[in-house]
Amino acid sequence: METTSCYIAFEGAEGCGKSTHAARLAAELGAVLTRETGGTAIGARIRAILHDTSVTDLADRAEALLTAADRAQHLQELVRPALAAGRHVVSDRTVYSTLAYQGYGRGLDVDELRHINGWAIDGQWPHLVLLLEVDPAVQAGRMHGRELDRFERESDDFHQRVRDGFARMAADDPDHWVVVDASAGIDEVYVAIRAAVHDRLGI
Ligand code: TMP
Repeated sequence: METTSCYIAFEGAEGCGKSTHAARLAAELGAVLTRETGGTAIGARIRAILHDTSVTDLADRAEALLTAADRAQHLQELVRPALAAGRHVVSDRTVYSTLAYQGYGRGLDVDELRHINGWAIDGQWPHLVLLLEVDPAVQAGRMHGRELDRFERESDDFHQRVRDGFARMAADDPDHWVVVDASAGIDEVYVAIRAAVHDRLGI
């Protein structure tokens, strides 16, 4: 069977373990591993603004457009060429983080963000989204002692809206989303992820 290139997204709250699992999956698939924001040199400069805790007056719409700009660069420079070259791509966060954080979190209109971001990515949506859900108490333990960035410093309410937003997107589009309980041990979670990717994408 001919395998077409797959674009796989890892999404979820901070401390859910997605970076670890994205790296492990990419290594096993021989995929290109990347991330948003900051997956390109230009993106790294955009990310520096987004994460800078001394930035206290960034407008919500400017924040949303910066994430979309990062993404437009990322898709053109890295994701599309990799897919065109026959590689799978595994990304630690994608367009859905904007819908969750800037949409459900900040309260910007989610449909408008979908439209703006659909343009930014020129229609290249991920083929599969793995949503890693983690119990907030487990998450708090994993974050303990870390220096928090501009997003991580947001209120519990903000983070709950983000979590609910992700869950809602997953429930609304079960053909593209898989929800993985990421509160368990790393190996157990990875087995669930690997099985889901095989079931959904045949790889
Ligand atoms: P991370 O790369 O360490 O997961 O952190 C990225 C942070 O940026 C995280 O708090 C979520 C936030 N973010 C957005 O708010 N919108 C986006 O579009 C992306 C990609 C990330």
